Amino acid sequence: MSIIEQMRKSGFEALTDEDIMKLLTAEGGMQQDLFQWARDVRRENGCDDVLLRGVVEISNVCNKNCDYCAMRASNKDLVRYTMSAEEILAIAQAIKDNGIQIVFLQGGQNPRNDILLEQVIPIIRNDMKMGVLLCLGERSQDVYEKFVRLGAISYILKFETSDADHYKEITGSSLENRLNTLRWAQNSGLKVGTGNIVGLPDQPLQSLVNDIRLGVSIKPDFISASPFIPNPNTPMEQHIHGNVNMTLNTMSILRIALKTVTIPSVSALESLVKDGQRMGLDAGANVITINFTPKETQSLYKIYSERRFVVSLEHAYSTIEKAGLRIHKTE
Ligand code: 5AD
Repeated sequence: MSIIEQMRKSGFEALTDEDIMKLLTAEGGMQQDLFQWARDVRRENGCDDVLLRGVVEISNVCNKNCDYCAMRASNKDLVRYTMSAEEILAIAQAIKDNGIQIVFLQGGQNPRNDILLEQVIPIIRNDMKMGVLLCLGERSQDVYEKFVRLGAISYILKFETSDADHYKEITGSSLENRLNTLRWAQNSGLKVGTGNIVGLPDQPLQSLVNDIRLGVSIKPDFISASPFIPNPNTPMEQHIHGNVNMTLNTMSILRIALKTVTIPSVSALESLVKDGQRMGLDAGANVITINFTPKETQSLYKIYSERRFVVSLEHAYSTIEKAGLRIHKTE
């Protein structure tokens, strides 16, 4: 019996840290067996259809100072922007017109944008009848509850790394606080998404095992793994990018462990390798985010700056087709 067959028999709960390390570093035939296991879990749980969501990057103003991100507050070389309510609503309408039912409002951490959100969320939810997903950083439980009252359905807040010392070093804030904040979002009734960055500088393999265990323990509705991308004008600009295979393997392990969870095939995969997002779907992912931020603004949203791959509707359709999957339709 192959290693993967043995692991399949005993299930995720029985895996030791050493087993997870073997899966994280799997290549060739063993990696294909891991992907197959993840795809089987996805199919058996009725999660094969790929969700589409349209993202609007509402602002690149951020009060955090994460070493990996070019939108960090201390990057003075970046022209900052915040969209108006009218702009956001026009883009939300374009997302709807393209047959997508989820508007994903993403932006730097800046509570000043909350006034804007009070204006746009109810219109997107009640008038346009679309789902609203937010990724806007840390807020208090009160604010998350307000987002729910306004009509938001879900919230993404990644833990980035499970290593508390490393988290503090690279973000300047505490992991405990980050996890508490995620719990507040969960407690306020939002569906939550979280995730890690794979291949941060000086990250040992054990840290990635711990990331998987932490992600699983959160019981999120969505979870992502993204490869680290070095960004110019950041303290990490000279480092090498994260490993694509290890990112794909992380996604498969998360699918196996969390079964029905929604896992994005992130654009950063495509930035690093052609067909990267198709590979993500092959590894067990089931959502693709399409970028609807206007061209002029896209270049200022520097999350993966240098190597950014901007996902179009056509690219998403062809990726899903290549993976042999269908688009998820909701009534
Ligand atoms: N590499 C990989 N992921 C990044 N993010 C931001 N910058 C980078 C980078 N350089 C991710 C973080 C954040 C999300 C919005 O984008 O995980 O939570």
